Amino acid sequence: MAKVKTKIGNDYCPQALFLYGTKQEDGQPHFGLFCWFGYYHSSEGLGVMACIGEEKQTKDLIRKNGVFSANLVSEQLLPLADYYGCTCGRITPDKMKHLPTVEWGQVLDVPTITESPISFELEVKKTIPMGDGSDIFLCLIRNVTQDEQLQDTTVPFTEKLMQAAPVLAPGEETYFSIDGRYLGKWGEPMNHMSNTKE
Ligand SMILES: Cc1cc2nc3c(=O)[nH]c(=O)nc-3n(C[C@H](O)[C@H](O)[C@H](O)COP(=O)(O)O)c2cc1C
Repeated sequence: MAKVKTKIGNDYCPQALFLYGTKQEDGQPHFGLFCWFGYYHSSEGLGVMACIGEEKQTKDLIRKNGVFSANLVSEQLLPLADYYGCTCGRITPDKMKHLPTVEWGQVLDVPTITESPISFELEVKKTIPMGDGSDIFLCLIRNVTQDEQLQDTTVPFTEKLMQAAPVLAPGEETYFSIDGRYLGKWGEPMNHMSNTKE
C-alpha cells in the first residue's frame, strides 16, 4: 500500500477535549474548552503541555493564578463544553450563568467538575511564548481525581474507556466519540444544553 502526501493535521491521532477551570478574582469558577493538550515527563513527575492561542479570559486567569484544572470532556458534558468553547469570556460577563457541579481541588485552589470522569490539578512550571500570540504552558500534574467507577480493577480497560466516554476533536471542527460516532460540529451540541445549573 502506497503512502500519499496529505494536508498537515492530526485526524487519525485525535486529541481528547478538556475544560480548563480557573478561579476568578471574585472567587467564582471559570471554564473554557481546549484540545491542544499533551503530556511530558520530567524528574518531578508527569506533566501536561497546554497550548493556548490568542488572548482570552482563561489565559488571563492562568497567568494570574499559576494554577488551573483540566477536566476530561465526556459525552454527557459535551453540550456545556461546546458552549464554553464557543463563548468568549472576555466579552460575555455572564458566561458562567451555566455551570456544572463544581468541586474545589484537593491539592490546588482550582475548580474541578464533578461530572467529568477525570480531573487534573495543574501547576504552571514554565510558559513558552511562541511570539505569535500563542503560549505553551508546561505544567506539573499535582493531583488527579477520577470517577470511582473507573477504580474497579475487575472491569476491563475497554469497558472503562467506554464508561468514561471521552469526546475527541479531529479535523474539520467536528466532535467524535471514542468509538467513532459523529457527535456534531463545533457550535451544535450547545443547542441541547439541559443538565446545567442556571
Ligand atoms: C472544540 C474546541 C477546542 C478548542 N481548543 C482550543 C485550544 O486548544 N486552544 C485555544 O487557545 N483555544 C481553543 N478553543 C477556543 C476556546 O475554547 C475559546 O477561545 C473560549 O472562548 C475560551 O474561553 P474563555 O474566552 O472564557 O477563556 C477551542 C474551542 C473549541 C470549540
